Amino acid sequence: LRQNYLERIAQAPDPAALEEIRVAALGKKGEISLKMRELGRMAPEERQRTGAALNRLKDEIDAALKARRAAMEDAALEERLKSEWLDVTLPGRPRRQGTIHPISQVTEEITAIFADMGFSVAEGPQIESDWYNFDALNIPPEHPARQEHDTFFMHRAADDDRPPHVLRTHTSPVQIRAMQTHGAPIRVIAPGRVYRMDMDQTHTPMFHQVEGLAIDRDISMANLKWVLEEFCRAFFEVDRVELRFRASHFPFTEPSAEVDIRCSWQGGQLKIGEGDDWMEILGSGMVHPKVLRAGGIDPDEWQGFAFGLGIDRLAMLKYGIPDLRAFFESDLRWLRHYGFSA
Ligand code: PHE
Repeated sequence: LRQNYLERIAQAPDPAALEEIRVAALGKKGEISLKMRELGRMAPEERQRTGAALNRLKDEIDAALKARRAAMEDAALEERLKSEWLDVTLPGRPRRQGTIHPISQVTEEITAIFADMGFSVAEGPQIESDWYNFDALNIPPEHPARQEHDTFFMHRAADDDRPPHVLRTHTSPVQIRAMQTHGAPIRVIAPGRVYRMDMDQTHTPMFHQVEGLAIDRDISMANLKWVLEEFCRAFFEVDRVELRFRASHFPFTEPSAEVDIRCSWQGGQLKIGEGDDWMEILGSGMVHPKVLRAGGIDPDEWQGFAFGLGIDRLAMLKYGIPDLRAFFESDLRWLRHYGFSA
């Protein structure tokens, strides 16, 4: 009996087989347990001898089972350690870092340059009311400038006859909001997204502008010119720039000027400050008295200049990016090429 069990234990292939052997020997109806139960019918002397022998056998089988089980667990662990080892001296796999989008980078640069000149940042919503985007800027409902803006309109319920909200077509509504919140004097820029229904190599339906607004007791076009020249020198990193103010018209400025910068293209490279070409970079002017009044500021006491420039356009120029649409296509190869490391 003993030999039989010890042999079977030694040959058991896995813990389940061991458990079967344990039940067969020591379980409630196991061979040894049954033999134990027969002890009652034996003579006292025989019972003592057989009982002691059975107990020893039981302990021996128990110990053999435990030892074999422990050996199996050791072997299994050994096996796992062999198959799951890890070389902690291997170099890590490199991870690609994200980059700063050129538009974000240029917006940062512009904000920093104007901050040096005392301009803080103002903000407004991208979904704007008709009043802020147009009326307050001296563009009444029938004004032809409304058509030129190719506006995206938000939907209103059929029985709601208030004018619909719009996706702001420029950052100029932030002028009004800044006047209402801060009152005069003011020196702010407002960078942000604007929207117009337009799409080709140099236009996307969403693009970015920076609005500038300075209001004080005696502000003139001369201040505007100085600020813009300082800005261009810093932004294009050149010692000398030449700006040309071309008379123009915006409903919210009087007088109005579009501003061109002297430049040249040499072998596909843009040179700022030299050459015979002029490139338009922004719209500007003296804030119209009606606009000051709409913002709650008295035009007899205060005056100001405003300008609006296209961020995307400036980014294309400074970093030699040929197609505006690429900015918004989220092509990772493009973003890695033109993006700025964080
Ligand atoms: N809002 C004008 C545009 O989008 C730019 C501008 C801003 C012109 C401020 C004058 C003053 O074209």
